Amino acid sequence: MTTRSFRTLDTLAPQGQKILLRADLNVPVRDGIISDLTRIERLAPTIKELADKGGRVIVVSHFDRPKGKPVPEMSLAPISEALARILGKKVTFVPDCIGPAAQDAVAAMKDGDVLVLENTRFYPGEEKNDPEMARALASLADIYVNDAFSAAHRAHASTEGVAHHLPSFAGRLMEMELGALEAALENPERPVGAIVGGAKVSTKLDLLNNMLEKVDMLAVGGAMANTFLAAQGFSVGKSLREEEMLDTARAIMAKAEGRGCDLVLPVDVVIASDFMAGAPTEIVPVSEIPDGWMALDIGPETVALLTEKLRKLKTLVWNGPLGVFEMPPFDTGTNAVAQEAARLTKAGKLRTVAGGGDTVSALRHAHVLHDMSYVSTAGGAFLEWLEGKVLPGIVMLGETAHDVAPL
Ligand code: 3PG
Ligand code: MG
Repeated sequence: MTTRSFRTLDTLAPQGQKILLRADLNVPVRDGIISDLTRIERLAPTIKELADKGGRVIVVSHFDRPKGKPVPEMSLAPISEALARILGKKVTFVPDCIGPAAQDAVAAMKDGDVLVLENTRFYPGEEKNDPEMARALASLADIYVNDAFSAAHRAHASTEGVAHHLPSFAGRLMEMELGALEAALENPERPVGAIVGGAKVSTKLDLLNNMLEKVDMLAVGGAMANTFLAAQGFSVGKSLREEEMLDTARAIMAKAEGRGCDLVLPVDVVIASDFMAGAPTEIVPVSEIPDGWMALDIGPETVALLTEKLRKLKTLVWNGPLGVFEMPPFDTGTNAVAQEAARLTKAGKLRTVAGGGDTVSALRHAHVLHDMSYVSTAGGAFLEWLEGKVLPGIVMLGETAHDVAPL
């Protein structure tokens, strides 16, 4: 499915309409303080647009994993305050997402008002995609707008079920996320490459297999690369790797060769005898990792190799760090490659799309988060998209997806 086939806000007349807006307000909170406002900031334009055009915006979201019962620390109340500050507009918080409190609050809305309803996961019906829960949510509104790309891999009542009952549209953030991913993988300017890092081949197997079919160059880094090196017969010392994935790694290498995809593995690594900051380090070729040492970052030759590869690309998809970037000096490789990607992007030579879990932290750590062409707000949903999976929250936004079922 392509982005163009989605119903966007361009075809919606919000004036006087009650709009159920599925947002992803699942922001990171540490000691009661929101440590990263990105998801809220990216969502704000959709709310502003709908409210400015006279829509009555009813925001629903999950927050954390309360497992189907109210958990006071997982209330959306403080997050709705942050949203109000970012919008520069009054936001009314409602301590329930369905039932009389929600119904009464919606009934009292005027055009342009914004409500935030309490955490949908306080009800077990949310994650079960219970039809009753979906109907209860849908009954609050005339229209459904889904702006929660980062929750679109979940088939829950507020992300999927509700869309069966209301005319459904993609919000502006959803539109942007889908547009960026499409431009990177479905219809990219070639050559297109991917950098995939992280700890385990086993968790990224579907991703690697799907990427191999789409990209011209696939660079593997992080501890995952150790498994590939071991599969090639190198001794990797006490480096993290998955012995049971060696055959799988060999099959991936064979598939890459068969498809003419340039699979790039580290040629040198930074090793340490202990997994700790400040441990003595050495740089060695991958053929010379001594027993009792572990690879924790890519080495300078590999950085140079990747730099050369990046310069030949028009499009780059990035998921996962290339080393233990949280523990300097093992952030050196990730920083250097990220900074080169940023430089090429700023020079207009490369389109860079990044996302998923640790990737955002790694790019922020390298001070290049804002220099990529697009950084997704999604973790798991971004990965599932890269795996080639159909995301249930998106299916219902298609032009021809469905007739609206009665409540
Ligand atoms: C996320 O943060 O990845 C999304 O909000 C989904 O949250 P979940 O992994 O708890 O479903
Ligand atoms: Mg998650």
